[in-house]
Amino acid sequence: MTNENPVRVLSLGAASGIAQATARLYAAEAAIIGVAGRNAARLAAIADDLQARGATRVERFEVDFTAVAAAPELDRMINQLGGIDHVILAYGLLGEHAAAERDAAAAQSIIDVNFRSAAAWALAAADVLERQGRGTLVVLGSVAGDRGRRSNYIYGAAKAGLATLVEGISHRFAGTGPRAVIVKPGPTDTAMTAAMNKGGPLWAAPETVAAIVRKAADRGGPVVYAPARWRLIMAIIRCIPAAIFNKMNF
Ligand SMILES: NC(=O)c1ccc[n+]([C@@H]2O[C@H](COP(=O)([O-])OP(=O)(O)OC[C@H]3O[C@@H](n4cnc5c(N)ncnc54)[C@H](OP(=O)(O)O)[C@@H]3O)[C@@H](O)[C@H]2O)c1
Repeated sequence: MTNENPVRVLSLGAASGIAQATARLYAAEAAIIGVAGRNAARLAAIADDLQARGATRVERFEVDFTAVAAAPELDRMINQLGGIDHVILAYGLLGEHAAAERDAAAAQSIIDVNFRSAAAWALAAADVLERQGRGTLVVLGSVAGDRGRRSNYIYGAAKAGLATLVEGISHRFAGTGPRAVIVKPGPTDTAMTAAMNKGGPLWAAPETVAAIVRKAADRGGPVVYAPARWRLIMAIIRCIPAAIFNKMNF
């Protein structure tokens, strides 16, 4: 497939299961794709896969998102892509919650990856999109951010902060050209959840979430649940009184 005017997309955290499935959708549209992550060998394999699936061009960027200044790195990536239409911020760290409750460095790392650095990259992307007056920032949040619960509230808190930040960027953009969307997946079958018991109606395939991410880059938002049923589920969970919620073990 050739494309006269290919979409230019940058995937931050391109080795994530959801990001890879999303990038494959862009490849099928003959997009120009930037894949950014910290493992050079995996980026090379992903780039080959996307090229074979029809991408017009794939650029690789080896980066640890917590270790660099976001704005200049982002500018460098976008220059290499020749411009930008969509930025997908997908990287994240679930971490070991039980350990992180007792280990300040482990807790800090979860907050650092999922909030501090993600916020810096989202704000840098917002500036680029605002300057050019168009384009979309799609950020992967989580339903875990909608209500703190004992099994993952450190990760959840970081994702809640990120969701508020992206909603704010969306508000900042209102009435102008660019858009910002926070996509909140429920449990999804990727490396992040490799240690969990999977299966059952609440689990989604990364391809299912990817289709929602791809659509969110074109329209909708500012808050999108993936799959959509999680909007109702989380609305109900948020309404459960503490006296009942505290007796639930999840
Ligand atoms: N899977 C789920 O059930 C689920 C549910 C809700 C929300 N989400 C969110 O959706 C997004 C994608 O999730 P996923 O399940 O597709 O994730 P995944 O497959 O576990 O991939 C996460 C990616 O983030 C990268 N990463 C983490 N810290 C990084 C850093 N400092 N610099 C560079 N890369 C870094 C990892 O790189 P390495 O491979 O080098 O470690 C990995 O490729 C995440 O934001 C996640 O929090 C996932």
